[in-house]
Amino acid sequence: MESDSNPLEVGRNTSGEHISCWLDNTAERQYSPLITNNHADVVVVGGGLAGLSVAYNLVNRGYSVVVLEDGLLASGESGRTTAHLASALDDRFYSLEKLFGQEKTRLIFQSHHEAINFIEKTVKLENIDCDFKRVNGYLFPHPSDSLESLEKEYKAAQNAGVPVEWVDAVPAMKMQPLKALKFAEQGQFHPVRYILGLADAITVKGGVIYTGTHVTEIEASGVTTSDGFRVNAKHIVVATNSPINSKFILPMIQYAYRTYAIAALVRKNSLPLALWWDTGDMNIDKDTPPYHYVRTQNYNAEFDLLIAGGEDHKTGVMTGESEMEPHGKLEAWTRDRFDIGEVVFKWSGQVLEPYDGMAFIGRNVSDSDNIYVITGDSGHGMTHATIAGMLIADLIDGKENPYEGIYKPGRVNLKASRVFFKETIGTLLDYYKTRPDHPGSVTLASIPLNDAAIVEFDGQKAGAYRDERGLLHMVSAACTHMGCNVRWNNIEKTWDCPCHGSRFSVTGAVLNGPANFPLEIIDEESEN
Ligand SMILES: Cc1cc2nc3c(=O)[nH]c(=O)nc-3n(C[C@H](O)[C@H](O)[C@H](O)COP(=O)(O)OP(=O)(O)OC[C@H]3O[C@@H](n4cnc5c(N)ncnc54)[C@H](O)[C@@H]3O)c2cc1C
Ligand code: FES
Repeated sequence: MESDSNPLEVGRNTSGEHISCWLDNTAERQYSPLITNNHADVVVVGGGLAGLSVAYNLVNRGYSVVVLEDGLLASGESGRTTAHLASALDDRFYSLEKLFGQEKTRLIFQSHHEAINFIEKTVKLENIDCDFKRVNGYLFPHPSDSLESLEKEYKAAQNAGVPVEWVDAVPAMKMQPLKALKFAEQGQFHPVRYILGLADAITVKGGVIYTGTHVTEIEASGVTTSDGFRVNAKHIVVATNSPINSKFILPMIQYAYRTYAIAALVRKNSLPLALWWDTGDMNIDKDTPPYHYVRTQNYNAEFDLLIAGGEDHKTGVMTGESEMEPHGKLEAWTRDRFDIGEVVFKWSGQVLEPYDGMAFIGRNVSDSDNIYVITGDSGHGMTHATIAGMLIADLIDGKENPYEGIYKPGRVNLKASRVFFKETIGTLLDYYKTRPDHPGSVTLASIPLNDAAIVEFDGQKAGAYRDERGLLHMVSAACTHMGCNVRWNNIEKTWDCPCHGSRFSVTGAVLNGPANFPLEIIDEESEN
């Protein structure tokens, strides 16, 4: 059942106050922190699905690998996902066809299809108990959308070789759409159990994992941790979700969005195993309109879970007056369409939307040739991370990979420049619209328990959080990436930056990059 973490401890096992259904029912896995210098063929920074997928492929090819993770394994977005394994891409095949052309769209589909096959094969080979299932996916129109967009999608999907067909009814839905598309050969799993299964396989094959180890510097010769230890390596893979080694380029061409999830009880086996997606709200002025995504998951002897996600918005920009709105809206949307019982988990997380929809996987831009990044996960981070595992292993091996050009971080796609300008200008406008204009008007005494505000303190803007005991924790509001002012996220009890999506705990610790250094502490525990 739903459990929350203490805002003062957020960061160690997850990146927000709410706990996902995956983390709630999986025992923590402890590894030692790095306390000596070390060396390896490859050092991987980040213990989410991307980092572990790369490490797994490399140990299989005989490389010595060290993985460094600053929290626990899966303490980033991989523990807060909904884990649809989809080759039916949410950026829509007809948009991808416009941006990349027909042949590349076919390759893009193939890469995600192969990723699901890879996971299926690995689950069998390594005997990972993670509820992996092959399922169908159903795409139906949002009420604001027309059937025409499904027709375009059907045609483009066929051009790309995707197994797709029209259906007149969608399983389990109370409100039936006129028509929908059915995509075969999709998948689903328990993401945290899969990650821990990969971790076991990595260590059995000689890889070494350290948790509680924060990397502060990345150089061509290796990495340095905040405790001053080094891992020297021939290749460095930065799998920190938002790369900590690209301050200027990658954060400008991908955009951070918050996305929300709930899990509700449903009677055991009353709903089929499947993935459901709507086409998104076309009334929202955005290139990728926020959409809803739904799946089922085995829970206990009596119940399954129906997990629904959506209501995305830009990080650091809250839309409603009631801050619980996104979860409330999501629950209402889900109840209208599915027969669900009590909502037992709710959480949120972050996705990075690249300007042309495809992840950035490969050699980092303007960096040494032996430094690689994986980012721009979008709503397909499970398959993107798995593609990264194979692609980066091939790059390190010097082998050709058919997907290298598609995912190359340094690619330029002029056809997507409209998105780039729109997002960049939108970020600036959002920043100014939601700026705390008169922080001086908020007094410290007016901040309730377990809440926070931006205040004026000693001539600078500060984020002040009052904990459950009444003590104040004050940090500078200046984001350590490029100095924008952070905003209070009252749902996850974190400080979020509207510029490029960095997030910080109430004590200033970094939860999401591109920032890699904590917010400056102004006052640790005062009784103001
Ligand atoms: C609510 C939600 C629903 C989603 N649904 C889906 C879905 O259905 N299907 C899908 O394919 N994708 C989905 N995604 C996206 C997907 O979950 C993510 O893209 C994916 O988990 C990212 O994996 P990762 O390994 O890149 O990042 P993470 O899992 O965030 O891993 C990065 C790790 O790096 C560590 N780290 C960061 N900085 C440092 C440092 N300096 N030193 C050491 N370690 C560091 C972090 O602690 C973290 O554990 C969803 C995401 C969310 C939030
Ligand atoms: S994330 Fe770039 S300034 Fe904060």
